[in-house]
Amino acid sequence: MFGQKKTTSTDTTVMSLDETRIPKHVAIIMDGNGRWAQKRHLPRVAGHKEGMNTVKKVTIAASHLGIKVLTLYAFSTENWKRSDNEVNYLMQLPVDFFDTFVPDLVKENVRVNVMGYTEQLPQKTQRAVRNAIADTADCTGMVLNFALNYGGQAEIVTAVQKIAQKVVDGEQQIADITTKTVDDALMTGSLAPYNNPDLLIRTSGEERISNFLLWQIAYSELVFTDGYWPDFDDAELRRCIHEFQQRDRRFGGVKQKK
Ligand code: FPP
Repeated sequence: MFGQKKTTSTDTTVMSLDETRIPKHVAIIMDGNGRWAQKRHLPRVAGHKEGMNTVKKVTIAASHLGIKVLTLYAFSTENWKRSDNEVNYLMQLPVDFFDTFVPDLVKENVRVNVMGYTEQLPQKTQRAVRNAIADTADCTGMVLNFALNYGGQAEIVTAVQKIAQKVVDGEQQIADITTKTVDDALMTGSLAPYNNPDLLIRTSGEERISNFLLWQIAYSELVFTDGYWPDFDDAELRRCIHEFQQRDRRFGGVKQKK
């Protein structure tokens, strides 16, 4: 346990936030789509569809709050173990999402980024991702960063391989390898200076990291909420940020004297 507190979705107050302390990078493990659907006697994929609509709403809310990077765990390297039907649905979701939402993203000045082993995705998904990245390339506001076919351990292995290859090629001295070398080699390297989430949220009551951003969350604040992802909204995001603003982030140091 990390001493974190759960936010409550029954609280309907609109949280007032300290506008000067909005987390710059927020990452979300969007969990509970299947249970949301099951509760309504619907197929699991109905939960993913509603989850996609929640992504749209939360993206706009995050952009309006002034968040710089919103990273969403949309498909893990372990999610291929699900039924063919569910995997096919999850591979179609980015196509549907970008087909309908890119104009809003452009209007909102949001740039799309995708991290993960995208070359293993079906062609249609790769194409949708490529087009969304190209269509929003000139946007200068928030970065909407999807983790698609992403796994934290695999990402670290790939980064180690990249660094080792540079050593072999004589471009990197072993003694000069620092945390920055690793930061730069990870898939979040292109998000600099916002590589690492300030706040990591997981919905649905589960309190695990599930192979998400293992290196990058070294000093992130963790907030776990009880509600399922399709029920997450602007108010819940504000409650999570409010919780973040109550935390005393010391990064291993001591509290600053006022
Ligand atoms: C976890 O819930 C959710 C996923 C594995 C998929 C998340 C995908 C979305 C929210 C939609 C993504 C949208 C875009 C635009 C790509 P679960 O299925 O594990 O839920 P459960 O734990 O209740 O079974």
